[in-house]
Amino acid sequence: MQDTMQDTTQELILIHEADGVLELRFNRPEKKNAITGAMYDALTAALLDAAERPAVRVVLIAAEGETFTAGNDIKDFLTMTGGLSDTPASRFIHTIAAFNKPLVAAVNGPAIGIGTTLLLHCDLVYASPEASLSVPFVDLGLVPEAGSSLLLPLRVGFARAAELLLLGEAMDADAALAAGLVNAIISSDTLRGHAREKAQKLAAKPPSALAATRALMRGELGTLHAHMRQESVVFSKALKGAEAREAFTAFLERRKPNLDGAAPPIASVA
Ligand code: COA
Repeated sequence: MQDTMQDTTQELILIHEADGVLELRFNRPEKKNAITGAMYDALTAALLDAAERPAVRVVLIAAEGETFTAGNDIKDFLTMTGGLSDTPASRFIHTIAAFNKPLVAAVNGPAIGIGTTLLLHCDLVYASPEASLSVPFVDLGLVPEAGSSLLLPLRVGFARAAELLLLGEAMDADAALAAGLVNAIISSDTLRGHAREKAQKLAAKPPSALAATRALMRGELGTLHAHMRQESVVFSKALKGAEAREAFTAFLERRKPNLDGAAPPIASVA
């Protein structure tokens, strides 16, 4: 397959395509690769384009620096007063959840919030020994997104999912491997190369059989998307709530959040 070598440097999402593998790399290391609206839009556009182009067989998600991503940009959260639905973040999570080609990830360090929840939509995940997975939504006064409140209990069992989602505890690379959330632990200097090799191996397979097998493994997506919409309703309420706004401000002011004036519980949508 031809190497199209298209490398758009100086961007917050680096895009590189070769041998049927489109690599999307977070490139905001000075902010721990926290994801802004513009970065979500770039990711979504790249995925939508990759879905349409037969030359792209597999997408690899990786990161520059020592953090995979510190999740959604917290300053952006403070300005998202309209909630989550129809935002760059929500368009991205629905796009990745519906993506029709294999997704491979190389997790080089902490993967926080959406950094972990996007992995639940990937087919193969390779992690360095420094990687850790965490979804501290509750600590931020938020609730899970990207279908993670459905997918994590299914993938790791309710007990472990509760440690991640309720206690907000991080899972190190060994624990993530044992829990089946990552395929292998690979030293950081060879991680991306290893993940790319596996992506290229997938890219060389018959694409229709691969896509059909992947679709069968994932099953019917209606339930997942309905669950994501439900998460989005609760997330949007939480995002505007006092707990979240205090948590975001506390993070930016580098202090502990003050939960004394805690808001009433967020109503269930069940
Ligand atoms: N949103 C916006 N900015 C972020 C960020 C985020 N999610 N995560 C890190 N940053 C910024 C910091 O504000 C800091 O910016 P500054 O240098 O202009 O002050 C810079 O990235 C470096 O982060 P810092 O906290 O100083 O690094 P650290 O090594 O001490 O800690 C983390 C790294 C990732 C553990 C810590 O930054 C963190 O907890 N980030 C928030 C994670 C999170 O809760 N994400 C949301 C999940 S829903």
